[in-house]
Amino acid sequence: MASSLFIIFFLTILPLSVLSATVLEDLANLTPPPDFTNTITQNCIRNPLLRYCNNTSSSSPMDIVEIFRSTIVASHLCNESKNPNCVESFPKIRIHSRPKTAALYLSFDFFWKYCPLTVVEIDLVNNSLNSEFPTNVLSCAQIRTLDLSYNQLSGFVPVQNLTGLANLTRLNLSYNRFSEDNKISDSEFFKRFNASSFVHSGVLPDAKRYKVKVLVLLIVFPITVILLCFCLGWMCLKRPDYLPRTCRRSHKFTSAMIDAATDEFSDQKLVSKSGGVDIYRGTLRDGTEAKIEVYTEKVSKEKRREFAEECEAVFKLRHKNLVRVLGWCNGRSLRALVTEWTYGESLETWLNSSLACSWRRRLRVVMGVVDGLFYVSEHWPEVTLGLSTSSVLLSDKDQEPLISQFKIGDGNNSSTNIFNFGLFLLEMITNLRPDEAQEDSDRRYLEYIRVHYPDNLERVIDEKMKVEERTLEKVKQGITLGLMCTDKPPLKQPSLTQIYDLVVSLYESSSRHH
Ligand SMILES: *[C@@H]1O[C@H](CO)[C@@H](O)[C@H](O)[C@H]1NC(C)=O
Ligand SMILES: *[C@@H]1O[C@H](CO)[C@@H](O)[C@H](O)[C@H]1NC(C)=O
Ligand SMILES: *[C@@H]1O[C@H](CO)[C@@H](O)[C@H](O)[C@H]1NC(C)=O
Ligand SMILES: *[C@@H]1O[C@H](CO)[C@@H](O)[C@H](O)[C@H]1NC(C)=O
Ligand SMILES: *[C@@H]1O[C@H](CO)[C@@H](O)[C@H](O)[C@H]1NC(C)=O
Ligand SMILES: *[C@@H]1O[C@H](CO)[C@@H](O)[C@H](O)[C@H]1NC(C)=O
Ligand SMILES: *[C@@H]1O[C@H](CO)[C@@H](O)[C@H](O)[C@H]1NC(C)=O
Ligand SMILES: *[C@@H]1O[C@H](CO)[C@@H](O)[C@H](O)[C@H]1NC(C)=O
Repeated sequence: MASSLFIIFFLTILPLSVLSATVLEDLANLTPPPDFTNTITQNCIRNPLLRYCNNTSSSSPMDIVEIFRSTIVASHLCNESKNPNCVESFPKIRIHSRPKTAALYLSFDFFWKYCPLTVVEIDLVNNSLNSEFPTNVLSCAQIRTLDLSYNQLSGFVPVQNLTGLANLTRLNLSYNRFSEDNKISDSEFFKRFNASSFVHSGVLPDAKRYKVKVLVLLIVFPITVILLCFCLGWMCLKRPDYLPRTCRRSHKFTSAMIDAATDEFSDQKLVSKSGGVDIYRGTLRDGTEAKIEVYTEKVSKEKRREFAEECEAVFKLRHKNLVRVLGWCNGRSLRALVTEWTYGESLETWLNSSLACSWRRRLRVVMGVVDGLFYVSEHWPEVTLGLSTSSVLLSDKDQEPLISQFKIGDGNNSSTNIFNFGLFLLEMITNLRPDEAQEDSDRRYLEYIRVHYPDNLERVIDEKMKVEERTLEKVKQGITLGLMCTDKPPLKQPSLTQIYDLVVSLYESSSRHH
């Protein structure tokens, strides 16, 4: 066998030593010498086991050319692989850390097809090979060593074909990117080539990566789920305003939301504090400003239910003279009503400005308030309105009066609204108001007016109105109406319809004077 190879290499190396190293690139142009057929026939007679011999009988010219070229590649590869004597023997193919050279030789399929029978070792370490497993090297079926470590080979390892290599005793596929093959560790193949053949090859499940996976699965994943649930729970229970608009009922405010909107009930946000109602100017999460009425009185469960019912009712009210209710909070420790923040001055401020001088203007404002009152009494008579010149605002937008305070859970008595309206009407005419600081302020206030009316009119009628003689009668009617409304017990209280009619007629007669 060695002698036959000797002849081949002797034949081919002679011309090669003369030719340049670029001969590999010129392979396509090379033609076999005229007596080449004879040479290989001779070789095959000496050694019929040579890989090309089985084709010489058919001996198509194509095969002769390929065989010739393969002998040339063989001699170059022998030299590249630093075999000690390329003329006599050729035991190893070894190309280390030379990516271009390795890739070039791997591409010569015809060479591998006739792989010399003397080759027992193939070593292509560290050549950046990034294809799939180079199956053409397996044509060298007699090899004992195959080392493909430190490449970027991918895809599946052809276990079947490797198993077929009877003389293969050392295999190294370490440091590659093969696909994981979980059948391999149970197979016979794995008993032949143990884990040290597959270090970081991708073939075996990586212990570290496996550990990481287990860690993720057993610890990180459940923790994430728990955290997510926690977050979701927190949002549902405490801060629904963090949920998307579609998954929450926007009128439900939680204590935590009120807390956040008022900066934890800070003094800067506090607007007023009276009669068990603290009023804050808060900012909701979406940036809108809101008036937040916090009811400080502790109440029973039953009362809380009523509170919720009333809130639901006022939430449905829609009127130009009533502030829009955005929602409410009915927590165990906090009850609050959230309404739109309206930009405008209070009537108290307005009455002290020059704009409020005329009777007619004041009546127009009173008309708006009666309108709102009428609407509420029709839709939900139990709702009590905060009617005072300090709580009714004059909207910047359209100069309409805006009843901006509800007194939820304040007695459920519709005559309270008429009483409150009476006080309001008197405040509008006198520009005087009950002194909240005093005990029993409403009674004292009314007493003051009853004492001076009708004898000391100048002490009762706001002088800024500059009431003329012909209007005086109408203003007096207004005061009488106010006193009737505030009558206690409410025997002489007029009905809302009567009030409405009278205010309208007063307003119309005032226009006739102009
Ligand atoms: C060539 O064919 C013969 C039988 O025809 C076989 O015994 C021998 O193994 C074959 N040689 C190679 C290299 O395949
Ligand atoms: C012989 O040549 C034919 C075609 O030329 C090829 O298909 C076949 O694989 C060759 N046989 C061997 C043993 O190389
Ligand atoms: C054989 O390899 C040596 C270096 O290893 C090189 O100098 C020489 O040119 C090569 N010979 C052929 C014929 O390629
Ligand atoms: C692979 O080759 C590069 C240079 O091409 C070299 O720096 C590196 O040390 C080599 N790695 C191994 C494991 O041989
Ligand atoms: C394996 O090696 C033995 C002894 O060196 C040899 O006889 C046999 O042909 C080899 N097997 C293959 C498939 O090359
Ligand atoms: C590898 O083995 C498969 C069968 O398991 C076969 O079809 C294929 O031709 C073989 N490839 C080589 C290069 O021997
Ligand atoms: C794995 O096989 C190699 C030979 O291929 C041997 O030297 C080594 O001791 C084996 N290791 C184990 C853990 O069996
Ligand atoms: C394969 O190569 C790696 C890296 O050089 C080495 O750690 C491992 O022991 C080798 N395995 C065998 C079976 O030679």
